[in-house]
Order: sequence, then structure tokens, then C-alpha cells
Amino acid sequence: MLSKEEIKLIEKEMAKFPVKSAASIESLKIVQDKQRWVSDKALAEVARILEMPVTELENVASFYNLIYRKPVGRHVIHLCESISCWVMGLEDILGYLNKKLGISYGETTEDDRFTLLPIQCLGDCDKAPAMMVDNDLYNNLTTEKIDDILQKYQ
Ligand code: FES
Repeated sequence: MLSKEEIKLIEKEMAKFPVKSAASIESLKIVQDKQRWVSDKALAEVARILEMPVTELENVASFYNLIYRKPVGRHVIHLCESISCWVMGLEDILGYLNKKLGISYGETTEDDRFTLLPIQCLGDCDKAPAMMVDNDLYNNLTTEKIDDILQKYQ
């Protein structure tokens, strides 16, 4: 179920384009900003507003890996799994995060604080290993640095 505010924001986004479906990613982001993730019901409602088939919008959502189709925690950690990060010690960082947070990829901490997900190259390869927490990019990761970073997200 979308709120009036979400619908209004989606309509505002739609108005920027000649074709309503062109606002699909932004509309999904609007829902996610408010609800943290995009449920099947919410997605169907967005598709109705954008006058596009639900399956088409589902394809958009699954292609765009920053749209969450399952519930996530208050903060989402995206750890880069691509080659430079592997070479520069991703395994240690992943192991540290797994141990510190008690979760593996795809899982959320019991207190709902963090969800851990893999992601492809974040474009910061010369400063690998890298990760994103919500919309913030962090690089040259070390286990010590991870402690400082995570503290910022409650
Ligand atoms: S390989 Fe990790 S940022 Fe490019």
C-alpha cells in the first residue's frame, strides 16, 4: 500500500517524462526511501500508476540491484565482490563483517540494523577493497576502518 505522499512524489516524477514508464526506477526508489524495500503489493501499485505491466516493472526492479525486493535492515552494506577487491583482501573484510555482525550475505542482523549484500564493482578499484553503506562509499577498507564506519550507522 502506498501512502498519499508516495503517490504524489511518483506523479511528480512521472510528469518529467513523455512516457510514464520512464519514471519506473525513480518511482521504485521513492517507495524504497519510505518503506526500505519494495514489496509485491507496492510494486503492483507502482505499475498501475505508471500504466505498465507488473512483470515489466519487476524486470526493471530485478535488473537494478539497489532496489530491494525483500525486507532489509535500517542500513544496507554492499560489499564489492569484483576482482580488484578480491585481490586487495575482500575475503578478510567479508570474514570480519560476517563475524562482527553475525550475518552472511542476504541476511539482516537481529536488531534490524544492517543487511549485508554483495555488489559488483563500485568503480573505486584503485582504492580497493570498497563497500557502500546506504549511499556512502568507503574504500581502502581495513578491519579497523570497518569498526569506525559501522559506528556511524545506528
Ligand atoms: S573491483 Fe571493487 S570497486 Fe572495482
